[in-house]
Amino acid sequence: MSTAKKEYKRVTVKSLIEMKQNGEKISMLTAYDYSMAKIVDAAQVDVILVGDSASNVIAGHETTLPITLDQMIYHASSVVRAAKRALVVVDIPFGSYQSDSKEALRSAIRIMKESGGHAVKVEGGIEIKDSVKRILQAGIPVMGHLGLTPQSIYKFGTYTVRAKEEQEAKKLKEDAKMLEELGCFGLVLEKIPAALAQEVAESVSIPIIGIGAGGGVDGQVLVVHDLLGMTHEFNPRFLRRYMNLYDEMGNAISQYVEDVKSKDFPNDREQY
Ligand code: KIV
Repeated sequence: MSTAKKEYKRVTVKSLIEMKQNGEKISMLTAYDYSMAKIVDAAQVDVILVGDSASNVIAGHETTLPITLDQMIYHASSVVRAAKRALVVVDIPFGSYQSDSKEALRSAIRIMKESGGHAVKVEGGIEIKDSVKRILQAGIPVMGHLGLTPQSIYKFGTYTVRAKEEQEAKKLKEDAKMLEELGCFGLVLEKIPAALAQEVAESVSIPIIGIGAGGGVDGQVLVVHDLLGMTHEFNPRFLRRYMNLYDEMGNAISQYVEDVKSKDFPNDREQY
């Protein structure tokens, strides 16, 4: 198995499956706006997820439930304008695909037509089978999301590790297999035991992208604001922070305030 990194002009759902076959790990990161997506894309991240976590990190809601389809389309269209290489996957928000498969398809079509995104992501297994099937039949690539599914947070009650018990682990494995058989091109597994995630990754041919699911899967995803240390109150064990932007940005902004107050800014060279 070769681990050499192949250069992809535009990452596609097909190239992700190829990466899994070649043993090349897949990098995925969220972005919600043009400027951040430009940086993420230039850094060669394979997949940009326009996550409904925008509801938390951009809008300041406690959960992902309030974000609307129109808001997701707005975020996604900004990201699509920036992404020259990455595959752009867009979350279908809570309430836009659960009630019936026709509504699910209408939501997916709106995302594809109005944002220009390349694929959609939905949370859940057997409960949303008909919706996934109908979206796929329309030729829209679908990514699944199992384990901790934040749109169901009020059912779970907490953000703790999922599928530790035998019965929930069994259902997760069945759901993963079903989503693969329906034709999903990949799956996100969130906050489940590493051994279970690895078992799922080894049992399906589609890429498994983990968040808090260990290193035995085919790729990793993080929320970009967490990776950069902009969200300093969120400290799960799985999170590796590569910067402390909360402090760095805060210091820079405090310095600006001081410079304005002291009349140091603007100086002679900073004016016309
Ligand atoms: O919305 C999101 O950011 C996500 C990731 C955490 C996988 O679904």
